[in-house]
This record gives sequence, C-alpha cells and structure tokens, in this order.
Amino acid sequence: MRVIQIFVISILLFRLHTSAQEKIAPESIKEKMQWFQDAKLGIFIHWGIYAVKGVDESWSFYNKLIPYNEYMQQLEGFTASKYNPTDWADLIQQSGAKYAVMTTKHHDGVALWNTNADHYNVVRNTPAKKDLLAPLFSELRKRQLKVGTYFSLIDWSRNDYDQFKKDSTRYKLKDQPARWESFRRFFQSQIQEISTLYNPDLFWFDGDWEHNADEWESVKVRNNILTRNPNAIINGRLAGYGDYVTPEQNIPVSKPSYNWWELCMTINNNWGFQYRDTNWKKPNEIITLFADVVGNGGNLLLDIGPKEDGTIPKEQREVLTELGKWNKKHERAVFGTVAGIPKGHFYGPTTLSKDSTSLYLFLQAQTSGPIMIKGLVNKIKDIKVLGSEASLAHKVVGKISWSPVPGLIFIDVPSKQLDPYMTVLELKLDGPVKLYAGHGGFN
Ligand code: GLC
Repeated sequence: MRVIQIFVISILLFRLHTSAQEKIAPESIKEKMQWFQDAKLGIFIHWGIYAVKGVDESWSFYNKLIPYNEYMQQLEGFTASKYNPTDWADLIQQSGAKYAVMTTKHHDGVALWNTNADHYNVVRNTPAKKDLLAPLFSELRKRQLKVGTYFSLIDWSRNDYDQFKKDSTRYKLKDQPARWESFRRFFQSQIQEISTLYNPDLFWFDGDWEHNADEWESVKVRNNILTRNPNAIINGRLAGYGDYVTPEQNIPVSKPSYNWWELCMTINNNWGFQYRDTNWKKPNEIITLFADVVGNGGNLLLDIGPKEDGTIPKEQREVLTELGKWNKKHERAVFGTVAGIPKGHFYGPTTLSKDSTSLYLFLQAQTSGPIMIKGLVNKIKDIKVLGSEASLAHKVVGKISWSPVPGLIFIDVPSKQLDPYMTVLELKLDGPVKLYAGHGGFN
C-alpha cells in the first residue's frame, strides 16, 4: 500500500515539478532571475519536530508508520537548545552557496515562527520557545546571502484541510465550501505573515499536487507576494505559477529545456535528520553531480537536516566544507557562468564564461593524460588547470588544410596537478566560442 502511495506521489511529483511554468512568460521575469541564475548553489534546510524521533518529515504519519498523536508528541522534545544561527550561516557561506532555503512549515503544520494563526508553532508549542527563522535570516543577510522560505501549502494538521490525515477524515470541496474557504484564509494569512515579517528573496512552495491552481488561489498568492516585493522569486510548485522548475532527487540526464531550474537533493536519503540513515553521499559524489548540474545551466539546492537541538550532523558539515574548498579553487568555472557546450564535443560537463571566451572542462574522477575536444573552431590562447599557474600545451590532430572542419584537440593533463575531487581546465579562446557540429562532410 505504502509502496503504491509513494509510487503515485512520485509520478505526480515528477510530472508537476518538471513541467514548464507555462503561465509565466520567461521574458517578463528575466531580470529578477539573474541572481538566481548566477548563484548555482543553495542550501536547503529541513528542520522541524520530526528530528526528535528521527522519522520522515510529515510523511511518517501520512504513511501510517507512526500514529499521528505520537508524531505530534515530538513537539515536547523539540528544544533548539544548541541552535547557533551564526554557525549555520558561516557554514552555508563556507560551502560557496549564495542562498539558503529554510523550512518555515512542513506538511505537519508546525510553524517555525510565532504565527498569528490559531495553529501549531514552535514558540507556543515546544520548549524551543522562540522564532527560529528571524535570527538565521539576519545572519544570512549580513553575509550577502539570499533568503528563501520553504512553505508547505498542504497542512495535514488542520481540521479545515480536505485531505486530513490525523484520523483519515476527508471531505469534498464542493460539499463543504465554507470549510475550504476557512483553510484558504488560513494559508493565505500565513504566507502574508512570512512575506511581511521576513520579506524573502525566494518563496519555495511545496505540496501543490493535492490541488489545482484555482483551489490554491495561485494567482492571488503570486500577486500578494509580488506586491510586497516585485523581485521575489517563486519556485515551480504553485500549480503553474512559479518562476522555475524543481526536479527533486532525480538528476536530469539531458539539459532541462526551461530557462531556470534547480535540483533539490539530500546528502543522505532523507530531508530531515534521521538517526538510522547513514547512507551519506561523499564529497566527491556531491561535487561530481554539482558540476553536472552547473554544466546543464541549473542550480543545486543541497539539503541539510539539523538535529532537534540545532546541531548539524558532522557528515553534512564535512560535505559542505569540502564542497566549499573545491568551490573556492574553481570559482571562475562555476559561479556566474552559463551552461557549457553541447554534448559530443567533450566527454564531461563544461561551462562557459558569460561572454563565452572562456571554456571550462570538468574532468571526471582522476582523469590525467591526453583529453580530447572535438569541433572547436576557435584558436586556444591559453590552458590552465584551475588552482595552478602553469600553462598546458595542446596539440591539434587531423586538421586538413582545405577543410573547414576543425581538428581534434588533445591536451595532456599532468597527474600531479589533479584535484582530489574534480579537476577543471580553463581554456582561454580567441573570441566567443565557435563550434562545428557537422558530420565531417562538405554540407
Ligand atoms: C517533497 C516532500 C517533502 C520534501 C520536499 C523537498 O515534496 O513532500 O517531504 O520536503 O519534497 O523537495
């Protein structure tokens, strides 16, 4: 049963989260999307009462792995006693991320701020007793990092929500319009509070799959947000009214066609902290997939799940720290770049400087020795391994004087200059990149 539920939900997530934001014309949002496009890396933070027992965030009671009451008892154990927003912001900054997205409320309905709504929140209902959002957002902003707020539209703890899970009571909207109206007033007011109190740079909605755009009043949500802050960015989970698409956990193999996209991904298998989940991705794996995302013109929103007391598990700290070191060394190849050259010219991810006169090649694992590029028409002015000053030589092979087809370029990469995770070559070209992608014939 659970498997079927998860399967159906995955299909829905896949369909909805990868569908283009057909309602919003890309031209109309281009300017405000610039910082996001340049940012490349964001840190996602799933923090909530689910960290107390270390169970699936909200889904554990939805899927009946734990009774609702037992799940909610975690309110009593959520202390945030070692929460150190300065340390969190330092770590996020060190990772090289340019923004962070923090859960303000997951599907369980527990707000991490002192909401005016008559509903659960950590200030009123947990020993934490304080607003957990404001201090982090202020630390992030001190470091010039952008602030994002995750907000679940669905709320499985509300009596007026139709897909009510506590005791499996459900109702049909058409049978109880007043009840649904009451829920709508509630969630609109919470979004309004977030907007007024924190003025986020990015609103990250979740859970739109349980209703359509009319039922969610997506247009109203979007307009209210943009009235307060016309530059606010809205993710693609508002039933067609967001600004970018959000594939989740599944790394795209081909370049997504929509202008802006962001892959959200966990460091182990879960969003929130779970004692039993030790399936940590290694820094090397994260860096490899990050290069792939950036090469395809996207952002990575990498998740951490702090413990109930606010400490960040050491495996997650390590990934962020190592990623940060790598980012620092390879900054030019990653931040402010655009998607690289089409596949086929080089066997690996690539990026380009905005003026496309620098081409960056990302070398898988411990690749050394001669690497090859096909169909590059430009002359290469200089080649460097990022992090080192020495220039590398290259050789052009198979160039025929009477043919416009460029030869193969071979670059010998010395093994002693390899990065422990991923080596990046910088090729300075004689002008904007020019490629030959033909079949080798005359037409
Ligand atoms: C899903 C899940 C949720 C998680 C989110 C992160 O939609 O419902 O648990 O917070 O993805 O992208």
